[in-house]
Amino acid sequence: MQKILVTGSAGYIGSHTCLVLLQAGYQVVGLDNLTNSVAQSLQRVQQISAKTMDFVVGDVRDARCLERVFADHKIDAVIHFAGLKAVGESMQQPLRYYDNNVHGTLKLLEAMRVARVKRLIFSSSATVYAASGRPRFIESSPLLPSSPYGWSKLNVEQILLDLSASDSAWKITMLRYFNPVGAHESGLIGEDPNGVPNNLMPYITQVAVGKLKQLAIYGDDYATPDGTCIRDYIHVMDLAEGHLAALKAIESLQPGATAINLGSGRGNSVLEVVAAFEAATGQRIAYKIAPRRAGDISDYFADASLALELLNWRTNRSLLEVCQDAWRWQHQNPQGFGK
Ligand code: NAD
Ligand code: UFG
Repeated sequence: MQKILVTGSAGYIGSHTCLVLLQAGYQVVGLDNLTNSVAQSLQRVQQISAKTMDFVVGDVRDARCLERVFADHKIDAVIHFAGLKAVGESMQQPLRYYDNNVHGTLKLLEAMRVARVKRLIFSSSATVYAASGRPRFIESSPLLPSSPYGWSKLNVEQILLDLSASDSAWKITMLRYFNPVGAHESGLIGEDPNGVPNNLMPYITQVAVGKLKQLAIYGDDYATPDGTCIRDYIHVMDLAEGHLAALKAIESLQPGATAINLGSGRGNSVLEVVAAFEAATGQRIAYKIAPRRAGDISDYFADASLALELLNWRTNRSLLEVCQDAWRWQHQNPQGFGK
């Protein structure tokens, strides 16, 4: 059995991944400073899996805390989710984003180096790709982030390339997620954004549950078939299973840092997502067409063939299942975890 340190474990993707790891028989040590989550998510993870995990409240920028975690546990690999993720906020507070995401990762890497733990899976993002060019993003597509958040992810990718080039004992997988949505099928864990959601799916579920009046669709004059933007929506459980696949494959990868897209390979427009939600749940979503949102690009989706080749992973869940599961979570927990 292997012991995995999961940073950002109490958050949206982290909690679903802890569940998948526990169910696969791994021992899990979670670390989270709870800036954007509550520990209750991990109680629910333990309830669903009927297994226990260790959890440390701490910050990845706290060298002493990391030193203690690596001294207390014989960690075999780290999955690093901890970070800030709001694109718009990163434009207002770039230093906070670089401090959390870049400085935080540097501290983690230093602690891993000292503890001789050289297996890492890092949460990168499709926002590292250049907005211009072909909408099907492949790992070799041009990179040019359009926000400090995106740059913080690309900066970390460069650090990981440099680190692994300096010492061939490192094996690092950098997973570039497309748009994570949905929730575990139990409805016990899910996405719990603060305040009014920025993202499409939590906005839709909050309209459905009556917390918000109406969805604003940002633009219907894009050069797409129905005029609304196209994204690659990936069920969070498929994404969590992608981390399990990455963990299992890590020893067989070449030394170094390898970037791999995690997406469905399929694009859906905003109007298609609304229609899928209505069909999956029987709930009607009131919406209006609003002006375009600054910074949005018309369409992109993943070329997910490298994940299939290297990780033997592909998505299994449909957009309808995404909608059913997101709705079950919201319906059963109208206030989320109540944080
Ligand atoms: P989340 O906010 O739900 O989870 C991140 C967790 O990290 C939170 O629980 C937060 O409290 C914790 N955290 C933040 N800074 C920390 C620090 N300095 N020390 C310890 N813990 C800290 O976000 P998520 O959606 O689960 O995203 C997880 C990772 O995936 C992030 O790195 C994010 O950038 C990346 N990602 C997310 C998306 C998305 O749309 N959700 C897309 C691409 C990439
Ligand atoms: N949208 C609306 N109304 C809303 C919210 C969103 O019409 O209230 C539209 C957006 O304009 C966009 C689509 O729905 O066309 C998806 O928007 P999201 O905000 O849900 O997602 P983004 O594609 O903008 O970005 C997300 C995350 C990023 C991550 C990126 C990876 O927010 O952190 O996916 O592809 F990096």
